[in-house]
Amino acid sequence: MPVIEYTKEVKRIADPLYEKMKHVVSEVEWSVYAAYIYSINQLKKEKNAVILAHNYMTPQIFHGIADITGDSLGLAREAVNTEADIIIVCGVHFMAETAKLLNPDKIVIIPDPAAGCSLAESITPEDVRTLRVKYPGVPVVTYVNTSADVKAECDICCTSGNALKIVESLESDRVIFLPDRHLASYVAYRTEKEIITWTGSCEVHEKFTPAEIDRFRESVPELTVIAHPECPPGVLNASDYAGSTAQMIDFVEMKQPENILMVTECSMSDNLTSSFPNVNFIRPYNMCPHMKLITLEKVLKSLEDLGPVVEISDNVAERAGLSVERMLAVK
Ligand code: 13P
Ligand code: SF4
Repeated sequence: MPVIEYTKEVKRIADPLYEKMKHVVSEVEWSVYAAYIYSINQLKKEKNAVILAHNYMTPQIFHGIADITGDSLGLAREAVNTEADIIIVCGVHFMAETAKLLNPDKIVIIPDPAAGCSLAESITPEDVRTLRVKYPGVPVVTYVNTSADVKAECDICCTSGNALKIVESLESDRVIFLPDRHLASYVAYRTEKEIITWTGSCEVHEKFTPAEIDRFRESVPELTVIAHPECPPGVLNASDYAGSTAQMIDFVEMKQPENILMVTECSMSDNLTSSFPNVNFIRPYNMCPHMKLITLEKVLKSLEDLGPVVEISDNVAERAGLSVERMLAVK
């Protein structure tokens, strides 16, 4: 890949974007990022591509090149609406698969296919089939953080933003809810239905502890704590609110607390700081190594090469697509 330079033209076009990230990106870093951002944004237009970026992307991706940002549910919804020919997913592999399931005729690209997820790794299609034999007739809800192969074995998907609503939409009194045991217990606490779950967990959120939240509260007076429901139950109990990444952003927007700790991946706070100058973000250091595999350099290369593309076999795509579409149909 040729070295891209921070020319006058790059400066003129890209520098206005620096405002949104200057609190976390140094000027030296910016001189490298700006050239990539400029090239990506040019190429994106030329190729009629859209960039969907998850809320955990770095600020240079989130503010620099994304056309649409959001949580898993928001990105899935936007994937249905796009008119672009090419969808670049800046997120992890299951998110790109979801976009492909909803757009089988489009080119869907993930800049690094190795960007996985500990939840998606925790369960196989065979595991789901075994559960179906053990609990005949019990509907299976799968968290969107799973492979398309696993989604194909399930009845309906959910995200952290709609998990309770999806479970409540089912007629059965018992529901198999896979694979995150913490999200399952968050749902179980709020529904009358019996929830049967799996042993999966998020390697980033499971590291938070109630003692850590207590320490933050002791050191920062008037601290509001909001957490992702992939956190263990003790952490959610120690928090003031739980919600998906998009719901956490909505919370900050609505309440504008003086001090906030977002108990989730560290880029969330970095991405929000510039939009809420009156809010003091207390930063956790938990980082998702999979999300961070997506870099500006890889995004540019993927636009140049038009790959790596996401491919799903017809048989899997048909059944997994139904699980996602059923979720999107629940109002
Ligand atoms: P959201 O859907 O809440 O953005 O969560 C996705 C995720 O991977 C959280 O770890
Ligand atoms: Fe998966 Fe956790 Fe990373 Fe989200 S933060 S992508 S659940 S490993």
